Amino acid sequence: MKVLITGGAGFLGSHLSEAFLARGDEVIALDRDAQAKVRHLLGHRRFRLVVDSVMNPEILDALAAEADLIYHLAGVVGVEHYVADPYDVLSVNVNGTQNLLRAAYKHGRRVVFSSTSEVYGRNPAVPWSEDADRVLGPTTIDRWCYATSKAAAEHFCLAYRRLGLPITVLRFFNVYGPRLDRLDVGRVIAILLGQLLRGEPLTVIGDGSQTRCFTWIDDAIRATVAAGIVSAAEGQVINVGTDQETSIRALAELMIRIGGGPSTIRFVPHASVYGDSYEDVPRRVPDVRRMKRILAVEATTALADGLARTIAWFRGANADAARPAVA
Ligand SMILES: NC(=O)c1ccc[n+]([C@@H]2O[C@H](COP(=O)([O-])OP(=O)(O)OC[C@H]3O[C@@H](n4cnc5c(N)ncnc54)[C@H](O)[C@@H]3O)[C@@H](O)[C@H]2O)c1
Repeated sequence: MKVLITGGAGFLGSHLSEAFLARGDEVIALDRDAQAKVRHLLGHRRFRLVVDSVMNPEILDALAAEADLIYHLAGVVGVEHYVADPYDVLSVNVNGTQNLLRAAYKHGRRVVFSSTSEVYGRNPAVPWSEDADRVLGPTTIDRWCYATSKAAAEHFCLAYRRLGLPITVLRFFNVYGPRLDRLDVGRVIAILLGQLLRGEPLTVIGDGSQTRCFTWIDDAIRATVAAGIVSAAEGQVINVGTDQETSIRALAELMIRIGGGPSTIRFVPHASVYGDSYEDVPRRVPDVRRMKRILAVEATTALADGLARTIAWFRGANADAARPAVA
């Protein structure tokens, strides 16, 4: 089977590429940049990286024509982008998804779309089943543009489902592991890791009581592969994650305990990091029954185990980056 993965050079895409290569499939990764995360795959005879954009309908048409199955993972992700360049977030996540769906529909290809736990916003009634309400803040707060863009993209997916396109929407919950992001940028674990590896205080935003459910990459990838293969997944929206809830303060403490070193915790106000364009989500917990029932996958890896492996990987791979910058 030939699998097209848009955003295939990203964190999830690189691990998903490995999973399909291990099954003996062919993988075409389409990504506009960030080749670093698939550098190790570039010589593989069943792996091809196409450096282009999902904003280019012609390339999508050509690649959809030759693929048997399509994963649409390309997206602009990361709080720093939501507050710095909302236009890019909205444009790629909405218009890029439309482009992809048009090409998949034309060629009759099955699609798995990567949505996010962010679509539930700050709905206080956790855990969230897939049919739970979305509770978002105002459009004047840039932070909500990502949730809005992914929800709009989901609507397009479900509209194409009505036209007969076989499609599955996955909502990922804080997946982490090797190659997550560069140290110090992107998602919370990568930011805390940079500080941990340099022995600096770990900056926890707010009072650290906000919770997330951190999902080990291999667990998420097993679910993601199944979503493209299991026929019962067609037409479904499925949460992908663990329901083990962890506060950011507990995450930081655990990272210090596992990683060792002199780091402590420093609490900083939201506004000092993201300005006024940010609102936090107090609790984020999935209902994972549909994932277990349809995909037959459970995210069982304990956070301590996954963090130990992640810290070890970043220590090895980023030995240089982890050194303090020389003024
Ligand atoms: N990792 C998570 O916990 C998580 C949670 C929720 C949703 N998701 C979704 O899963 C997908 C993959 O996320 P990730 O964690 O691997 O992030 P990532 O940033 O590592 O990967 C996204 C990739 O998309 C690429 N991309 C961006 N714009 C593009 C464009 N116009 N054309 C082609 N490629 C483009 C980026 O270069 C990047 O390599 C994203 O759509 C994200 O919204 C991830």
